[in-house]
Amino acid sequence: MEIKNAKFLKSESGISSYAGFGLPEIAVVGRSNVGKSSFINCLANQNKLAKTSSTPGRTRLVNYFLFNQNFVLVDLPGYGFAKASKEEQGKWESMITGYFAESDFLAGVVMLVDIRHTPTEKDKQMLEYLYTYNIPTIIVATKQDKIKPSQMESRKVDICGTLKVAKDNIILMSNQTRYGKDKVLAKMEQLIENFKEERA
Ligand code: GTP
Ligand code: MG
Repeated sequence: MEIKNAKFLKSESGISSYAGFGLPEIAVVGRSNVGKSSFINCLANQNKLAKTSSTPGRTRLVNYFLFNQNFVLVDLPGYGFAKASKEEQGKWESMITGYFAESDFLAGVVMLVDIRHTPTEKDKQMLEYLYTYNIPTIIVATKQDKIKPSQMESRKVDICGTLKVAKDNIILMSNQTRYGKDKVLAKMEQLIENFKEERA
């Protein structure tokens, strides 16, 4: 799949009124600061479509982006931001689960983890949640540019072992060099096609 165009659709602070856009949606989830917004920019070939920041907790709304006039990417707030108050964290988590409960057009999820770190309890819970609700999920390890090529295999083994997924279920990617981007896009295309077939 080639991304020809991408644009911002809208932001929402609560999803109770959420009606969708009549197009398949792929949501991006992951810990705060893992690179969700950068991932969306990388796919879009744009620097400032989604707001990124070196400070965690940047994305506090649910943001929708239209890609190829054909599907919607959903930038969700990050979870597990240590400096946020319990109340704030709870609010973000309910925005994430609220989105999953409300969306009628969810084709799947891209879950991001940082290639340098062992996935956290929150990551494990997130993945369990996605499996429990049968939401097709692609796992992407971001910031691949931050490790040496010699470390790639062992990082993959650690992440897959912790998340209890097979090694070919995870794609290594860099939002900076675009390493792995085509593989991720191919998997996303599959999610969209499967969703359309199911709804046809
Ligand atoms: P929240 O909105 O706070 O949940 O964060 P986020 O997951 O949207 O992360 P964001 O895209 O804002 O990126 C966080 C930081 O990581 C920024 O400083 C990015 O430049 C950096 N970053 C993201 N992806 C990559 C990558 O693939 N490689 C490198 N080197 N840095 C990255
Ligand atoms: Mg963000």
